[in-house]
Amino acid sequence: MAAEAPGRADSGRAVNGLRSATSTGLVRRVLLELLICPRCGSGLHAAPHGGTLVCPRCQNEVPIRAGIPRFVETLDDMGARTQASFGYEWTHFDDWTASGEANFQQYFGDLDLGGMGDARVLDAGCGMGRHARMLGPHVRGLVALDFSAAIDRAAENLVDLPNVACIQADVMAPPLRSESFDLVYSMGVLHHLHDTARAIAGLVRLVRPGGRFRVYLYWQPEGWRRTVLAAVNACRRVTTRLPFGLLRALCWMLSVGLWVGVIAPYRLLQRLDIRGVRRLPLFQYTMYPFTILYNDQFDRFSAPLEKRYRADEVRELLESAGLVDVRVWPRYGWMAEGMKPHGVLPTAGH
Ligand SMILES: C[S@@+](CC[C@H](N)C(=O)[O-])C[C@H]1O[C@@H](n2cnc3c(N)ncnc32)[C@H](O)[C@@H]1O
Ligand SMILES: [Zn+2]
Repeated sequence: MAAEAPGRADSGRAVNGLRSATSTGLVRRVLLELLICPRCGSGLHAAPHGGTLVCPRCQNEVPIRAGIPRFVETLDDMGARTQASFGYEWTHFDDWTASGEANFQQYFGDLDLGGMGDARVLDAGCGMGRHARMLGPHVRGLVALDFSAAIDRAAENLVDLPNVACIQADVMAPPLRSESFDLVYSMGVLHHLHDTARAIAGLVRLVRPGGRFRVYLYWQPEGWRRTVLAAVNACRRVTTRLPFGLLRALCWMLSVGLWVGVIAPYRLLQRLDIRGVRRLPLFQYTMYPFTILYNDQFDRFSAPLEKRYRADEVRELLESAGLVDVRVWPRYGWMAEGMKPHGVLPTAGH
């Protein structure tokens, strides 16, 4: 880790076009140290006039708008649809306070936050920035990356954290230096990609030896839950093609029905200490306000591609990317984490 002292917050003022702390330029320095040219891999310079990052080797220019470097150029059809869907979602469900604490506890409750003061962290697919918002104050530096319009909401939600910087980029081609992060995490993102294994390999490249990669992926339900999922998937064939405004209205109606018909009775059963209620589908929404149920219904029915995994498949994904000490554990889906090993010693004869 570079030894940099945390700077003062300045509410995201633009310095050379990058959101930065006034006194130390910490965010700008963190970013400029970490970013690379997506075309040739060289380091980038801030153009003297501001507004762009320039590659000194191939002259590629990366625009900076609203303080955020924008690396996304072209996407395939599925990528563009996914980008539009999440861009809509996180600009309409952008209140991080509704789920921030509870969701953070689910995904990161086991971390020793007190020991992370030196850590450099990447949030790959940050959405509106709810996890970055919770983790940012505990670490040295955090880069929040997303390819959709969600990144603009993330930047607003993270504006008062001077050690956090946002970039708009594709997790399939993160414009970041190899082995420069102590922790790379990606929550609820990689099951929306065609080539999840390649995305994981690319993200693991960014982890320093001894650092960790953490992921949350949807699980493949078993038994009767599988039948329910098949019905949902049949609906998704239509809903993923609906105009977003119409889908949002439908999801609101569905959520009201679920809230009254399922979540409220669960809460009652829980108060009566009825055993087994915790294992019922959608139980986790008893812990959240209504907006989270509503947000998740929109998420479920709008994302064009959704893949599901068994625990052994998740383990295999992480181990194939070269991670060791892989753990997989349930959290209404699969959480998994692995460590990037230190250099492999050459074997005899090599
Ligand atoms: C379900 S949301 C999760 C957001 C956040 N991780 C959270 O847990 O609140 C998935 C996010 O991944 C982003 N995403 C999906 N595919 C991506 C890609 N190829 N590159 C970068 N971001 C991507 C979407 O824009 C969206 O914000
Ligand atoms: Zn270049």
